[in-house]
Amino acid sequence: MIIAIDGPSGAGKSTLGKMLARELDLLYLDTGAMYRAGALAVLRAGISFEDETGVAEAITAASIHLTGNSENLTVLLDGEDITAEIRTLEVAQAASRVSTNSAVRRRMVELQREMGERAERGCVLEGRDIGSVVFPNADVKFFLTAEPAARARRRFEEDKGKGRTSTFEQTLAEINERDERDVSRDDSPLQIPEGSEVIDTSELDLDEVFEQMLAVIRERKSAAA
Ligand code: DC
Repeated sequence: MIIAIDGPSGAGKSTLGKMLARELDLLYLDTGAMYRAGALAVLRAGISFEDETGVAEAITAASIHLTGNSENLTVLLDGEDITAEIRTLEVAQAASRVSTNSAVRRRMVELQREMGERAERGCVLEGRDIGSVVFPNADVKFFLTAEPAARARRRFEEDKGKGRTSTFEQTLAEINERDERDVSRDDSPLQIPEGSEVIDTSELDLDEVFEQMLAVIRERKSAAA
């Protein structure tokens, strides 16, 4: 079973994707972490984001792996554990920039399909183009969204928990900038994939969204049986 979760940042994709993967015993793939790993390779190599060929070459040459399970996902870049390092604002912005590069996207989509297809019981993938490009025939597609202020508030609380000191206004501006780039890029922009279940999480708590998602999955399963 393939479950696709798309949506803008801060809509709850990662938390809910992990919860679903655990509940249903499926592999969990955070595809944003892969773009972040690629972005870190570019930053470390000192390549300019304007240099499209250089960016594509650096990312294609890099070995990017996700290991572990939904509780404890480890991101490896050329064998080095970069799980914590890719969670900075700098890497988030860099990931959004390298993700506009078509050669980079082709590479990532190829890796994601390989990993998803290899997963014996199936896979939960979350990102921006899962239901539209990576697995357009996914068994269930979700599009999670929320008001920008609600998404920024969650991100702000999360960052505070990790000891970071951006203000709420900075977090909101960062989220808006990234969303704008993600929805307006030419290649695979963030969009609501055909056939997806759209859930606005602004006013819902996590458990409510989780129950809604599980209900949709059960309904699809029984319709397919
Ligand atoms: O979900 P995230 O914040 O970790 O993603 C980082 C960036 O990667 C995001 O700004 C857009 C890009 N991305 C993408 O283009 N396609 C995906 N499937 C996942 C992420």
